[in-house]
Amino acid sequence: MLTVEDLWVDVGGKQVLKGVNFEIPDGRTHILFGKNGSGKTTLLLTLIGFSAYEVVQGRILFKGIDITRMPVNERVQLGMGVSFQRPPAVRGLLTRQMADICNRSGADYKELAERLNFTDFLDRELNVGFSGGEMKRSEMLQLMLQKPDFIMLDEPESGVDIENMHLIGKVASELLERHLNRTRKRSGLIITHTGYILDYLNADLGYVMIDGAIVCSGNPYQIFSTINEKGFEECANCTI
Ligand SMILES: Nc1ncnc2c1ncn2[C@@H]1O[C@H](COP(=O)(O)OP(=O)(O)OP(=O)(O)O)[C@@H](O)[C@H]1O
Ligand SMILES: [Mg+2]
Repeated sequence: MLTVEDLWVDVGGKQVLKGVNFEIPDGRTHILFGKNGSGKTTLLLTLIGFSAYEVVQGRILFKGIDITRMPVNERVQLGMGVSFQRPPAVRGLLTRQMADICNRSGADYKELAERLNFTDFLDRELNVGFSGGEMKRSEMLQLMLQKPDFIMLDEPESGVDIENMHLIGKVASELLERHLNRTRKRSGLIITHTGYILDYLNADLGYVMIDGAIVCSGNPYQIFSTINEKGFEECANCTI
């Protein structure tokens, strides 16, 4: 589904990613761990194609197509979707209008909005004045309507209370895992610090990013418990 080869990325004149390599097969969910400032969000925003992230070396293949220089809208058309760590506020655009843009199949999403405790926010401007947890629910609503083949979640738990975490976890599971009449799992890359989202998914592989490079890969649940017990330094000692 996704192959990243020797990816070097500069942002704002700073070299942030330094030779990132990994591959996510179809139907697999991989987890990205790493300290604050290690380059996780930079990787996701490079994958979705934001122009501020300058690829100075390497390439990104999605569904076998080289998308390294492809604009964001074409990547989304190809089946990429992302929930941002800090979604942008957009004045003049109602959340309902954004949901309609994502809703390519024209599904009735009244029930989904209710499940996400989100009905009251649809007629507000997108993310304008939204609390942390409200923004995350807004992002999940958009992804549920978009149904991308490859789903990136950047800290889906941040700012989310325990009850809403349960909602978000269930929705993430519906997006990624086999569900009702969908026998195929989707593919995903998820960044988490707290690990709460891991309770709702069958994650296949975990990575640890340190200073712009992936230094370790393995069972994501084991990696998470190692980080909890011994910190990231222990992961730096691991050789892939
Ligand atoms: N536009 C920019 N200009 C300058 N530096 C930037 C820019 N964007 C990101 N950086 C720097 O790149 C580094 C990696 O940032 P990034 O947001 O990818 O980290 P992260 O791993 O997602 O961290 P966190 O866990 O805190 O979200 C940081 O040192 C950050 O300050
Ligand atoms: Mg980040």
